[in-house]
Formats: sequence, structure tokens, C-alpha cells
Amino acid sequence: MSNTLSAVPVLETARLRLRTVHRDDLDAIYALHADPRAMRYWSFAAWTRREQAEEWFNQRQRWGNDSEVWPWGITLAGSAQLIGIATLFSVNRVQCRAEIGYQLGSAHWGQGYAVEALRAVLGYALDALQLQRIEADIDPRNLASCRLVEKLGFRLEGLLRERWRVNGEVTDTALYGLLTREFVRS
Ligand SMILES: CC(C)(COP(=O)(O)OP(=O)(O)OC[C@H]1O[C@@H](n2cnc3c(N)ncnc32)[C@H](O)[C@@H]1OP(=O)(O)O)[C@@H](O)C(=O)NCCC(=O)NCCS
Repeated sequence: MSNTLSAVPVLETARLRLRTVHRDDLDAIYALHADPRAMRYWSFAAWTRREQAEEWFNQRQRWGNDSEVWPWGITLAGSAQLIGIATLFSVNRVQCRAEIGYQLGSAHWGQGYAVEALRAVLGYALDALQLQRIEADIDPRNLASCRLVEKLGFRLEGLLRERWRVNGEVTDTALYGLLTREFVRS
């Protein structure tokens, strides 16, 4: 079995480097998913066991074999330490669309890193992959995530009610969509 998730090209921004996720990143991946603050509005509960990181990695590898997925590990420029993940998934080449998911360790919030990382990933998705529509499924209470995508040009397209069941809680989806012509590039 390979020691990486699907290989992705390196994307460099002013302060960040986005690169392929390796098995060596598992401690950082565990820390990201074990942080209750960072997992508050996620699609599954915060992890409590290190083996969950192994299971996640193996399942993501199978996911990458079965469908087109672009998982980028986010690091600060000049550091190897993974501080977040941004993933393009459900890539549909016929319909020219995909979904985006992202998370940053809470120690790195509020410094504009998410905008910087997503701008690079969206630029790649729309320019290199020639996709024309990107979707984001966000808990409407996740104000940071809503603000983040709005800043990049996404528009709120609808509310999908009672779409998730996580940790005994039933939650809605705010469905956001970005069209190529609406992307705020800078
Ligand atoms: C969502 C997330 C990636 C944002 O990361 P970040 O690096 O802190 O975001 P940025 O610093 O780039 O800020 C983006 C915008 O959101 C705003 N913002 C950040 N946190 C906010 C908060 N708690 N409430 C309201 N707005 C907030 C910022 O002010 C900025 O807007 P501005 O430039 O107009 O001021 C981060 O909070 C996170 O990883 N959360 C946990 C995982 C998660 O929920 N992922 C999304 C699932 S849909």
C-alpha cells in the first residue's frame, strides 16, 4: 500500500505550501481531528483514538482509488508540519463541478490562512482542471466557514434541512456554490 493519498501538485502562496498528504502526517492529522473546537461543525465526531487516523488514511486511499479526489496538506512555507487539509472531491468532469472541504488547526485560525489556501486550490480547480462550479456544504452555524467562502465569491444557494446526524445532533446544510466567473481571485 502506498504511503501517500492521491498525489497532487505543489501549490505555493505567499505564506503557505500545499502538497500531497503522507502517512508521516498521521500525528498531525490525528491532532486536527481530535480538536473539539475544529470538529464542532464537522461531518463526524472528534476523534478520541489514534487508530482513527490510520482508519481515515486507509479509507481515504480507497476513496482516491475509486473516484477523483485532490487532497492537499497545508503547511506554513518552509515547514514540513501539516496544519490543515483542503480537498476537492466528488469531481465530475462531465458536469465540470466538484465539492470542496477544508480544515485548519485552531492554533492557526484568524490569520487569513484559509482564504490563502482555498484561493490556491480554487485557482487550480477552475484554471488547471477547468471545472466551472465548486460546491461547499456548510453547517449554517459555522460562521467562520460561511464568511470564508463568501469572501472567495461563493453564494448561498439554499438550505437543506436535517441533512446530517453527528454526535446525536441533527443539523442542516447551507449549500454554497461558486461559478468560475464569480471567483474573487485577490
Ligand atoms: C473555517 C476555517 C477553515 C477558517 O479558517 P481561518 O484561517 O481562521 O479563516 P481566515 O482567517 O482565512 O478568515 C476568513 C474570513 O472568515 C472570518 N472569520 C474567521 N473566523 C470567524 C468567526 N469565528 N466568525 C466570523 N467570521 C470569522 C475572517 O474574519 C475572514 O473574513 P474577513 O477577512 O472579512 O475578516 C477554520 O475556522 C476551521 O478550520 N474550522 C474548523 C473546520 C471547519 O469547520 N471547516 C469547514 C467545514 S464546512
